[in-house]
Amino acid sequence: MAASWLSKAVFYEIYPQSFFDTNADGVGDLPGVTEKLDYVKSLGCNALWLNPCFDSPFKDAGYDVRDYKKVAPRYGTNDDMKALFAAAHKKGIRVLLDLVPGHTSEQHPWFRESGKAEENEFSHRYIWTDNAFARGDGMPFIGGEMPRNGTYIINFFKSQPALNYGYRDIHEPWQKPIDDPACLATREAMKDIMRFWLDMGCDGFRVDMADSLVKNDGNEKLATMEVWKDIAGAIHAEYPEAALVSEWNNPGQALSCGFDMDFYLDWRGNGYSVMFRDYDIPKFGEKIGKNNSYFSLGSDRDVSGFLKDFLPRYEAGKDKGLWCLISGNHDTVRVAPGLDDRERRLAFAFLYTMPGAPFLYYGDEIGMPYRWVPTKEGGYQRTGSRTPMQWDRSENMGFSAADPERLYLPVGPLEGAPTVADQEKDPGSFLNFVREIIALRQSNDDLGNYSPFRVYSAEEGSRLFAYKRGGMLVAVNPSAEELVLELDGDYEILYAIGDSRTENGRLLLGRQSFAVLKPRV
Ligand code: NOJ
Ligand code: CA
Repeated sequence: MAASWLSKAVFYEIYPQSFFDTNADGVGDLPGVTEKLDYVKSLGCNALWLNPCFDSPFKDAGYDVRDYKKVAPRYGTNDDMKALFAAAHKKGIRVLLDLVPGHTSEQHPWFRESGKAEENEFSHRYIWTDNAFARGDGMPFIGGEMPRNGTYIINFFKSQPALNYGYRDIHEPWQKPIDDPACLATREAMKDIMRFWLDMGCDGFRVDMADSLVKNDGNEKLATMEVWKDIAGAIHAEYPEAALVSEWNNPGQALSCGFDMDFYLDWRGNGYSVMFRDYDIPKFGEKIGKNNSYFSLGSDRDVSGFLKDFLPRYEAGKDKGLWCLISGNHDTVRVAPGLDDRERRLAFAFLYTMPGAPFLYYGDEIGMPYRWVPTKEGGYQRTGSRTPMQWDRSENMGFSAADPERLYLPVGPLEGAPTVADQEKDPGSFLNFVREIIALRQSNDDLGNYSPFRVYSAEEGSRLFAYKRGGMLVAVNPSAEELVLELDGDYEILYAIGDSRTENGRLLLGRQSFAVLKPRV
């Protein structure tokens, strides 16, 4: 049984270094998150995902952990984390931390030990070949760095050596089966880290690259699933209200091995990306897409590309847990300015009326744009989605009182920049729209996280898309034309964007409109 609070969970993702700086060093911090909890609550969000805030050399913005049990000094202390958990719980907000189980920093003491020539407790905590001139059997590897006579496998960047959970398909003597004592020890080390934070008050974890643990595991990921059944099983037994969400993008797999939630990730050309992310904006000289997202006014897309990708995977996971839609995250290009205000309203109305627990990336609620900025801490093109939260029009847009030179990332020009303060004052702002659509979801169980989804109308070549959530009917028309939908009963319009009306058993959806209908009683 999944944590009971997940049925109503609406998440807000915070990139801690860019959210709010309380000590004027230019970097967002944990006390800054605590200070802004009322803001999070005002959105209607009742759960947080914090990107990694652990001790790290920050070669991948903290996804290279040096000490899993210590808050990075730039964010504060373990006591600050404890205080954040307590303050959040008082306000009814849950907190997920980011667990990186697949790799550590090359500066982690386990790795330093494992690279020694003499055999020791950590010699097999990472995947090492048996010779300094050996290759990685298809996996990226590094040699020549440490006294040990071997090369080691990396999981992502060079700075991120892969932890050893073993191999499923073994063809080299250095590849260990998943039940080798060394691989079991890695699992136990992860459980120990999870217990450490759960005991302090955290409510669960977003799990980085959850599908990457066992190597040579094929597409079925059978051995990786076995590892997760063990880890998640142990944690759920001890902490029944803890929640786990995987970065996996395969709910059929992830939700079968102990995850309560899985993310629908933005992979170029997949269902998510054709809905939200087919943009004509430059990315380091290259263009992202053709400006043909489903929600773009001028697009000729129907939803078939989305449904072909979404439906089989939704069906595979729907009885097991939640497959979650995101507004964006720290790895994707932001949804603005690829979609303008109206297009984004339709996109978010869709997002917040779909099943799964929705995730809002900080700043997306005010339409913070993707901006080109030089790379920081291994961000590269992702850096433009990680800029400081735009609170108001004071210095550094209210993010920090530091000298602008010292900011983690620069804030953009003030002119035309969306800010929380401005949008608070405007009842018609995007911020207030986001509040409204989240409130609509939260006050109608049919629109809730576990409530069933089924396609009602998605004709090929048509820009109209309609779906049922429980007994409710949701319809969207992102085009410039009025479109007509035949109704299967007597409905009234509960919520609408743009012009729509019911007439003689039909729903007339005006240009760029959206409507939620409920049966008339
Ligand atoms: C996925 C994370 O979201 C990303 O930011 C990170 O660089 C990689 N995993 C490696 O941990
Ligand atoms: Ca700070």
